[in-house]
Amino acid sequence: MARIPDAFIDELLARTDIVEVISTRVPLKRQGKEYSACCPFHDERSPSFTVSPTKQFYHCFGCGAHGTALSFLMNYDRLEFLDAVEELARRNGMEVPRETQQRNQDNDTRDLFGALEAAARFFQRQLEGSDKARAYLDGRGVDAATRAQFAIGYAPDGFSALKDALGTDERRMKLLDRAGLFSKNDRGHTYDKFRDRVMFPIYDRRGRVIAFGGRVLQKDDGPKYLNSPETALFHKGRELYGLWQVRQANQKIARLIVVEGYMDVVSLFQFGVKQAVATLGTATTPDHAELLFRNAPDVYFCFDGDAAGQRAAWRALESVLPRMKDGRQAFFLFLPDGEDPDTIVRQEGAAAFDARLQQAMPLSEFFFQELGKDIRLSTLDGKARLAERARPLLAQIPDGAFGDLMRQRLSEITGVGAATASAPPPAKPLPRAAAHRSAGNKPSLVRSAIVCLLHKPSLALALQPPHAFAGLRLPGVELLLELLDIVHARPDITTGVLLEHFAEREELPALQKLAMQELPGDENIWQAELLDAAHQMERQLLQQRIDELQVKQRNIGLDEADKYELRALLQARVAR
Ligand code: UTP
Ligand code: MN
Repeated sequence: MARIPDAFIDELLARTDIVEVISTRVPLKRQGKEYSACCPFHDERSPSFTVSPTKQFYHCFGCGAHGTALSFLMNYDRLEFLDAVEELARRNGMEVPRETQQRNQDNDTRDLFGALEAAARFFQRQLEGSDKARAYLDGRGVDAATRAQFAIGYAPDGFSALKDALGTDERRMKLLDRAGLFSKNDRGHTYDKFRDRVMFPIYDRRGRVIAFGGRVLQKDDGPKYLNSPETALFHKGRELYGLWQVRQANQKIARLIVVEGYMDVVSLFQFGVKQAVATLGTATTPDHAELLFRNAPDVYFCFDGDAAGQRAAWRALESVLPRMKDGRQAFFLFLPDGEDPDTIVRQEGAAAFDARLQQAMPLSEFFFQELGKDIRLSTLDGKARLAERARPLLAQIPDGAFGDLMRQRLSEITGVGAATASAPPPAKPLPRAAAHRSAGNKPSLVRSAIVCLLHKPSLALALQPPHAFAGLRLPGVELLLELLDIVHARPDITTGVLLEHFAEREELPALQKLAMQELPGDENIWQAELLDAAHQMERQLLQQRIDELQVKQRNIGLDEADKYELRALLQARVAR
């Protein structure tokens, strides 16, 4: 992936007004220096979502959501980072810098998207003109609105309908080929891959066609479903059929339902269950799991009740386990033999389908049920075996309440603790120290310096590098120096943009918290506080070096240079 220079992101955010970006999507009310609204990221009645025009970031006191205009777009419009950058750049009439090679590749990609879009439209037109294809969809009860919503089409019989219509020159032929729409015979002759099939376009996250699934009209006409091959744009392990439509239909996606088939998604949607997506004839991959939870906190996996369904469910469980952060939930629903969500929702309606989801098995239950299947839990051996099987799996769960509860459940069942399974989390050096109070129980120097900087970045200009406290071994000093450097390089930087520099870093949450803190006083007071902190840190560095030399003196003795240095330091300490 192309890397976009930090300087461009800075510039982009500097030219963007977060209030403008958010207010076109969420109605904001002015309140003093800030704006507020009901949080778009969680359900609430009274507004705890605030947007600060001076700091150029948003924060929700209810759910903790926060970030810059860029992260807002990623979370609210559910854009990938690069797409959010492009969106903001477009608003500001800026061009995202790319290398020439990258630019050629971009044009290429655009052409490929164009070819797929043209093919989708071609198939839709063919559906209009085909009595038997329309009769097939009528027979399956797919109404006109749903056909349009999913852009369902028809690939005509014969070997060259698409080729003749769209492959009008060499360049177009190449594009259609790279889009996965052709097959080749032994003699190198190219012909349409999809023939006499109902066509389901597969969309990416931005609503662009990237592939197709095609279903035969009659049994025995080859494989029931044919999917596009993997192409530059389509990796089936990373895409979910229907996700685009779900995003279009829901402002906030409270849950996603993962089903197996195209028709399951389509029928559920038509009956009003507008949160279903399908994996494309593959097991649920870790990429799928990530994508699912990035879009919704609750995920329901729907499978056939047979053995294959159980196996598929277990694969899904393995993919989600490492992603079960607090606040996320996974459920498993097994349908009666011979039924799928399409048939169920048609027979029973949406309410009944919903009721089934309500009864779905929580991940925890499915986990212990499956692991304990062939084990006699009344025996010691059985308990030990269950504990042994569970441990490596439980160790994959991220730290948090869910993992604790799962381990607790294991020891309830077996009487064996699982504590050894998860290593203690590695100490996080900086944020903790920076965010917490120092031993003296008043805010540490480093921390208060950072807080001042976060509230008014330009205060950094009062401290000219090189910073005399640079060698001080206190938690947070490195971070403070880094912040100072960033502001010196970009004196007009806002708090939001400053935080954006830490977007991928573990320090981010702590920094965001500090930036949100109420800070009494005004700029002048903060300035004085910052200078004072710097001054005291210099003194501490002095003391640190004195201590070092004195330890050395006691242990191995000092040489002449050391003695000279120590004397100078002691004098300097008195002078300060
Ligand atoms: P199913 O065989 O369960 O079919 O395949 P279905 O979804 O119920 O289809 P209808 O209702 O008969 O139209 C489930 C999914 O597995 C993939 C497809 O994604 C399909 O939707 N599949 C199935 C294939 O990729 N190829 C096949 O030949 C069959
Ligand atoms: Mn079906």
